[in-house]
Amino acid sequence: MDRLVIEGGYRLHGEVTVSGAKNAALPIMTAALLAETPSIIHNVPDLRDTRMMAEVLRALGAKVEFENSTLKVDPSTFSITEAPYDMVRKMRASVYVLAPMVTRLGEARVSLPGGCAIGARPIDLHLRGLESLGADVKLEHGYIVARNEKMQGGEVLLTGPNGSSVGATANTLMMAVLTPGTTTIRGAAKEPEIIDLVGYLKAMGAQIDGAGTSTLKIEGVSKLKGVKYSIIPDRIEAGTFFAAAAITEGDCRVHGAKLDQLESVIDKMGEMGVYISAENGSVRVACDGPPRAASFRTLPYPGFPTDMQAQFMALLCLADGQSVITETIYPDRFIHVSEFVRMGAKVTLSPGQAIVQGVPKLSGAPVMASDLRASAALVVAGLAADGVTDIHRVYHIDRGYERIEEKLQGLGANIRRVQTPRPVMD
Ligand code: EPU
Repeated sequence: MDRLVIEGGYRLHGEVTVSGAKNAALPIMTAALLAETPSIIHNVPDLRDTRMMAEVLRALGAKVEFENSTLKVDPSTFSITEAPYDMVRKMRASVYVLAPMVTRLGEARVSLPGGCAIGARPIDLHLRGLESLGADVKLEHGYIVARNEKMQGGEVLLTGPNGSSVGATANTLMMAVLTPGTTTIRGAAKEPEIIDLVGYLKAMGAQIDGAGTSTLKIEGVSKLKGVKYSIIPDRIEAGTFFAAAAITEGDCRVHGAKLDQLESVIDKMGEMGVYISAENGSVRVACDGPPRAASFRTLPYPGFPTDMQAQFMALLCLADGQSVITETIYPDRFIHVSEFVRMGAKVTLSPGQAIVQGVPKLSGAPVMASDLRASAALVVAGLAADGVTDIHRVYHIDRGYERIEEKLQGLGANIRRVQTPRPVMD
């Protein structure tokens, strides 16, 4: 299993380019199965998750080629109606296959995903979307079993206790585009990744209004055609580089970052005293001292993203003063805290909230990555810590960051990947 070994204390400087957005690529890859002809999708990040999704599409019968950030999907041989436990367990986003299975093949048997390291993560809203379109849905032996018995457009509210759901919006949208009649999704997610999915579906011939608002109106069509499309840049990867530049008191230019998709993050950085501006098509982030303390609460877009919470906590561990972080999307998404504390951070937890008392220095330590964003946050912390931070289980980071160590090396970080041989057991 690979580790990342970081010697902290190097100011980051120079330029870095963000890859395509993982959370836009995953539903768009699945949506390629809605068409009858092949799609060519550019700017697909080469990640464990996108490779895994390519495997999922192949397992369902599609022909998939993935090279140099370009993915070709030929859905003409898509024929399998089962996504087994082993597939969905490894990657929750596999549940997106419900939509093409039920609309194009007439039935779906998809394993329920279960919980994960960041919390319970129910899928009741995905099922609500499916039922609102008239599908016959049953839960049997840990599987969702759905049949297309004359599905028809309907109206559905996709707001749960923690706000709108990105995944349920994507799944319901993908089902509605091939379902006869008009579907209205209220409480729809407004995330840029949903807007990107709408862009792809419309290019394929779908009729959708309201992308980027909380009401989506879809007029079902009888078929879709494959097209060429390019995925938007990854706003969370961009934000992670912002945090890395700021924590090392560096000066970096991040290419591909779109400021209008990062407003809540940029506002918070301004409050923390970090210089950030759009310059010649890229974003410059510079900081010449420890950040000021700042409090925030995670919210659905355009609020502060939960996927940036851990990386910002790393930064606030070194701030001057006390910050309060409230996590409203995944109230248990604080597993990184115990590792930060091992690095000398002062963080106390109460339900859904972390109080971070800034300290002058973090100290490098062996630490364990527990999920994707937690591992990115440990990298951010390690870049500024005294001495060496040795991050174990970095396969989590490889799920969502393309060549992270190479990109950081390009900015002057002292980071290397080390392969640890598997222990030999007697
Ligand atoms: N929720 C329900 N019922 C549902 C679905 C969601 O109550 O049926 C709740 C969730 O428990 C959560 C909230 O609604 O409290 C929002 O969850 P959402 O469905 O929006 O999350 P998701 O679609 O499963 C995506 C991203 C996550 C990101 C969240 C929130 C993908 C593949 N994943 O997950 O990304 O944190 O939206 O923005 O798009 C990551 O990249 O590290 C990651 C975890």
